[in-house]
Amino acid sequence: MTNHTETWSAVDAACDELLGSTPRSVSHAAARCIELGLPAISVSPMQGRFLMLMARLSNAKRILEIGTLGGYSTAWLAEGLAPGGLVTTIELNETWATNAEQTFREGGIADRVEVRRGAALSVMAGLTPQPDKFDLVFIDADKENSANYVDLALQMTRVGGLIIVDNVIREGAIVDANHPDERVQGSRRAIARMGEKPLVAASVLQTVGMKGYDGFAIALVGTPRG
Ligand code: SAH
Ligand code: DHB
Ligand code: MG
Repeated sequence: MTNHTETWSAVDAACDELLGSTPRSVSHAAARCIELGLPAISVSPMQGRFLMLMARLSNAKRILEIGTLGGYSTAWLAEGLAPGGLVTTIELNETWATNAEQTFREGGIADRVEVRRGAALSVMAGLTPQPDKFDLVFIDADKENSANYVDLALQMTRVGGLIIVDNVIREGAIVDANHPDERVQGSRRAIARMGEKPLVAASVLQTVGMKGYDGFAIALVGTPRG
């Protein structure tokens, strides 16, 4: 495939500049990611804006994020919350979790974000007794488990809520049903889950930009089974 990442990055940057009004919490999280030398795998500014848009559209008061890293996507989600809302974000890496908490305090969103430490599958299992809790779940951690996170998210998202999974395209690798990379298989399974009830409407949005060629899987949660 021809690589147009340079053009896509320039377009991403131009759109970001044209739209402007980046929240201070978001700029601060971006600066901290660089300062702390974190891997450059946060969502792009356009993807972050998209997450904020989804949060606003679903009138989200309770958001669950799996995979905090530097809290960049977290900040966008927090800025999309309805008044009085809360983002719960799960991070396996203790140091990154602690640094993110500091980032949220400095960015002025600590009252709207809670960081939970640990492996997301066990942290989420501890959250499941409260069904219909979340309006939006953003899945962006170990891709091998994306489908497992979708399954758990289904038990804890309200009808009419959204489940969004990052990095499901992987430069197109997901077309290969026999791909040896477990992250590719995890992404394929996550998409397949979204074709099943009680997910009433789902789609996969291919994206290009500064992060190359990738995409989001998005599902609107329907009436629970049984
Ligand atoms: N959402 C962030 C990027 C997350 S990168 C953003 O766009 O700004 C993926 C993160 O998931 C990493 O910080 C990694 O430590 C975390 N992670 C990986 N496996 C995990 C697991 N099993 N449970 C919780 N977090 C995990
Ligand atoms: C990578 C990108 C991501 O958005 C992510 O969540 C994890 C890893 C990557 O490019 O390696
Ligand atoms: Mg990601």
